[in-house]
Amino acid sequence: MKYFYTLSICLLISLNVTAQHQDGFYATMSLHHAKALVKDAPNDIEILSTFRNEVAVWMTETGSHKLHDRILTHGPGYIYRNSEEEAITAIQNPQNILENNTRAALNFSITEDATVIPTLDLIQTQNIEDHILELENYGTRYHNRASATQAAVDLKAKWEEMAAEYGRTDVSVRLFEHSNTQMPSVILTITGAEIPEEYVIVGGHLDSTSNQGNDNAPGADDDASGIATITEATRALFEVGFVPKRTIEVMAYAAEEIGLVGSNEIASEYASNDVNVVAVSQFDMTLFNGSSNDVSFITDFTSGTLTNYMMSLLDHYNASGDHQVTYSTSVCNYGCSDHASWTGQGYLAAFPFEANFGQHNGNIHSTGDMFSLTNTASHATKFAKLCAEFLIEVAKNNEALSVNDVLASSIYLTINDGMLSYDLTSSQKEVKSIQLYSIKGQEVFATTAISDRDQVALPTLSTGIYIATITTENSNTPIVKKLIVR
Ligand code: BES
Ligand code: ZN
Repeated sequence: MKYFYTLSICLLISLNVTAQHQDGFYATMSLHHAKALVKDAPNDIEILSTFRNEVAVWMTETGSHKLHDRILTHGPGYIYRNSEEEAITAIQNPQNILENNTRAALNFSITEDATVIPTLDLIQTQNIEDHILELENYGTRYHNRASATQAAVDLKAKWEEMAAEYGRTDVSVRLFEHSNTQMPSVILTITGAEIPEEYVIVGGHLDSTSNQGNDNAPGADDDASGIATITEATRALFEVGFVPKRTIEVMAYAAEEIGLVGSNEIASEYASNDVNVVAVSQFDMTLFNGSSNDVSFITDFTSGTLTNYMMSLLDHYNASGDHQVTYSTSVCNYGCSDHASWTGQGYLAAFPFEANFGQHNGNIHSTGDMFSLTNTASHATKFAKLCAEFLIEVAKNNEALSVNDVLASSIYLTINDGMLSYDLTSSQKEVKSIQLYSIKGQEVFATTAISDRDQVALPTLSTGIYIATITTENSNTPIVKKLIVR
């Protein structure tokens, strides 16, 4: 009797479950897409479990079609799983997150030409050179020396000044204190305007070492170059007025040279707090041009998906012309830099490196790792461009501000040499007013009482993207156009 009772309860429960989950299947997919589908088709999907950016779901065939038709731009969108248990286990498996990652395959698109292209022109080799020399002047940045901590404190101040110079109220800089070294890491955060809980990270290491004694470890290539590279990319992002949708973090790690200490502590803290890090790129050694190709992507301890994506960025933006960058691949054979800390926690990381392994700068870890060896940072500039492309394309523009143009093809509107020129004569519309907004939403120029065709002098504008709106008589919809000031 007792058996019968237990059995019928089990039967009831299982019947209930099958009734609820019939005509469907289990799958894993990105949280982002799952949420969109829940909103669009609540009866066709149920989120069973969440881990970072991935979810285990039950969904109907109809749901999978809706996912394709209404939410995705490309890719399958989900991975089929045999059971609920398999789906839940799969999202918690770092290896799985790494290479089977639906989010990675789906969300890495290249769409931000309007922001990236002007940014590439803003990146300046001179700034990278100045910064490398500034860091070299600490003598050594060995993690247990006061000079290393000083370098971190000063870098925090430098990044704060840089953010202030461009009026960025969405940027903060903090020191990350560690357990296994006295040297702090430095983290600059640009809070995402739309999906702040998703992170895009670039980093390099601020410490240096010398096997000839650590009193004199200038560490120009290893890795002042990486710090200078990511700093210049970030500055260019500020100059162009880029407001990211996702949160961006720029990291100067402490104590890499004694075993990835700083990055390991940061990556494990992020993992234990379930921080949604979408992608990480490491910049360690960008100064020395040792191989026939410019960038060598390290393919071990990195994500193939992310590496391929960064190659696509170079194919798209740097195939020829002034900004040309060529690439190949290489291996370290060990977790040779901070990318390995992120990979170890199941995050997607890539490592574009200065040369093929073995053809890299032979003076690292010595008193000879000085800027004077190359005397130019032109090689590093290529990495700064890749860094900016990566940050803009993975973090994406804030859609709230990146308006679609509402403009008849017959209307002419442009900014050139400080003048706003427009011609609305063929549109048969009478102009009431023109406003110009920065990408951050500040009105930088406004005028009324104007004719249908004119040239108006503008105040001095910093380079970047602006949005012009023109209000006309007898129409409630203003004409809107994005404009680039170069
Ligand atoms: N920048 C090097 C890594 C590197 C060196 C990559 C040469 C490719 C070629 C990094 O600072 C470093 O020195 N790493 C250590 C290992 C780390 C786990 C302490 C190394 O390579 O010995
Ligand atoms: Zn090193």
